[in-house]
Amino acid sequence: MLHNARVLVGISGGIAAYKSAHLVRLLKKAGAEVRVVMTQGAQAFIQPLTLQALSGNPVATDLLDPAAEAGMGHIELARWPTHIVLAPATANLIARLNAGMADELLPTLILATNKPVFIAPAMNQQMWQAPVTQANIKNLQAMYPSWQWLGPDAGEQACGEVGAGRMLEPEAIVEALQPAQKLAGKHLLITSGPTREALDPVRFISNHSSGKMGNALASAALRLGAKVTMITGPGHLPVPAGVQQVAITSALNMLQAVQDKLASCDWFIGCAAVADYRPAEVSEQKLKKGAEDELSLQLVKNPDIIATVGQHPQRPSLVVGFAAESEALLQYGEQKLKRKGLDWIVCNDISQPGIAMNADDNAVTIIGHSSQKVLSQASKQKIGQQIIDFLIEQTL
Ligand code: PMT
Repeated sequence: MLHNARVLVGISGGIAAYKSAHLVRLLKKAGAEVRVVMTQGAQAFIQPLTLQALSGNPVATDLLDPAAEAGMGHIELARWPTHIVLAPATANLIARLNAGMADELLPTLILATNKPVFIAPAMNQQMWQAPVTQANIKNLQAMYPSWQWLGPDAGEQACGEVGAGRMLEPEAIVEALQPAQKLAGKHLLITSGPTREALDPVRFISNHSSGKMGNALASAALRLGAKVTMITGPGHLPVPAGVQQVAITSALNMLQAVQDKLASCDWFIGCAAVADYRPAEVSEQKLKKGAEDELSLQLVKNPDIIATVGQHPQRPSLVVGFAAESEALLQYGEQKLKRKGLDWIVCNDISQPGIAMNADDNAVTIIGHSSQKVLSQASKQKIGQQIIDFLIEQTL
């Protein structure tokens, strides 16, 4: 239930705005305190008074409202909620969010908030499919990976056309705000990002892993009530709020950090791109350029972290690896599954443009000892959610 939740419902101007009245009723019924913000367009479809009566609070509509600015201005509204639901989110609102517009109260407060945002798009199916709408959504997903996109549904539309673009039913939206805490009591340990293997004080060997896939897995697990610890290699991405982070640099650091946490964890997911080798020697001084045209580096093998976990006396009940391959994806994935003592391995093809390392999307095949599951290309947030849902289905 949503007791103690403060939900801000943002309504923009589409025919689905009439469903928002029911959404507000359901949220109140679930125990949430509700405030409504409407765009000018939304007020052409439904009266603020209706939503005021249903929410039990004044409806905010104006960015430059002298009365509101004295008390609940746009910054106040951005800070107040525990959840923000944009329903319906029209193509126009989505475009304005992507452009960072602050031309009305609703997009302005979204710009000013760091609260969880749930977006239920609703529009004509052709508008939904329009490349510019899809590009706006892709951009927003990359900029705000924690935002949750709810729907749209497909079916008959108010304009008489049939296709994707119907707003998700209010019941489904309320359910998305309060997902069953299927991972409550579970502690997940996730490695993420690259490792960095030093050559000297200024140079290192590393790779292009961004940490996006690991973050997506962590967000999905947190939403389902898990405690999440991430061991992260160097990068620029902050981990999702609520994650306990152990930041490391090298593969040896990562192994140590994993071993320190292993006893308390239930699931281990190795999403990090760990360097297989490190320089045999790390020079204390910056290496100087010599007269030779060629330079050879001697490398030594790093320990295999996930294989260590797979064979550890304190092995967690579930050990899941990733395989990044540029050829023979499933064959190599299966070999790693067995060799490293894993329960599942998530294989992604790094030769495909637009997915896997450092991309916003992914497409994966999850291989187990007796079954496989293909997840077709989607944002890493979605793939992360689907992987966690799949593992829950198989395990709990
Ligand atoms: O971070 P992103 O930009 O979002 O990209 C995500 C990703 C492509 C890095 C991720 O999806 C992924 O595939 N991670 C594993 C990359 C990799 O190093 O794969 P691998 O096939 O070399 O390793 C197989 C498994 O062994 C992995 O679980 C890896 O974490 C683990 N490993 C590898 C070497 C080593 N010394 N120790 C390990 O634990």
